[in-house]
Amino acid sequence: MSKRIAVYPGSFDPITYGHLDILYRGLRIFDKIIIAIARNIEKKALFTVEERMEMIREVLEDQKNVLIDSFDGLLVDYIKKVKANFVIRGLRAMSDFEYEFQMASVNRTLNQTMDTIFMMTSKDFFFVSSRTVKEVASFGGSVKEFVPPNVEKRLKEKFKVQP
Ligand code: PNS
Repeated sequence: MSKRIAVYPGSFDPITYGHLDILYRGLRIFDKIIIAIARNIEKKALFTVEERMEMIREVLEDQKNVLIDSFDGLLVDYIKKVKANFVIRGLRAMSDFEYEFQMASVNRTLNQTMDTIFMMTSKDFFFVSSRTVKEVASFGGSVKEFVPPNVEKRLKEKFKVQP
């Protein structure tokens, strides 16, 4: 039987417990998940792609079925390259829906053999986003409920907050 491979794309700037919740639940459905950081999107990032990959690697070093990668250009082209047929995305609130629906529809129009699988974020992480995590950290607030310890440490270093 062929392996079910899914790509979990995103900015992951930085990875949060919300992302990890989706990833771990996705691993119960898929044989392999490729976390793919988009390189050329417009958003201004706090961490470089390499820093983001490193943080994810530190968190997921024991996960044999997870691969960490980055991509340039269109997601559909990347999916073809890695021979995956599925994309995983987390949905938090209704406000995510319109953007996600648009993206999934565009992707499916460009490649009819792929599907986007949406997973509802667990209630504990409903309100967690990389953007809010960065904002809280930038003002010296605690983000330990939202991100793993290595990410918290990197955020403190970025914002030069004394431990
Ligand atoms: O975590 P994000 O920033 O919401 O992720 C968005 C991402 C990276 C999944 C999306 O911007 C993307 O797939 N970019 C690659 C370019 C692409 O394929 N665009 C067409 C879909 S509209």
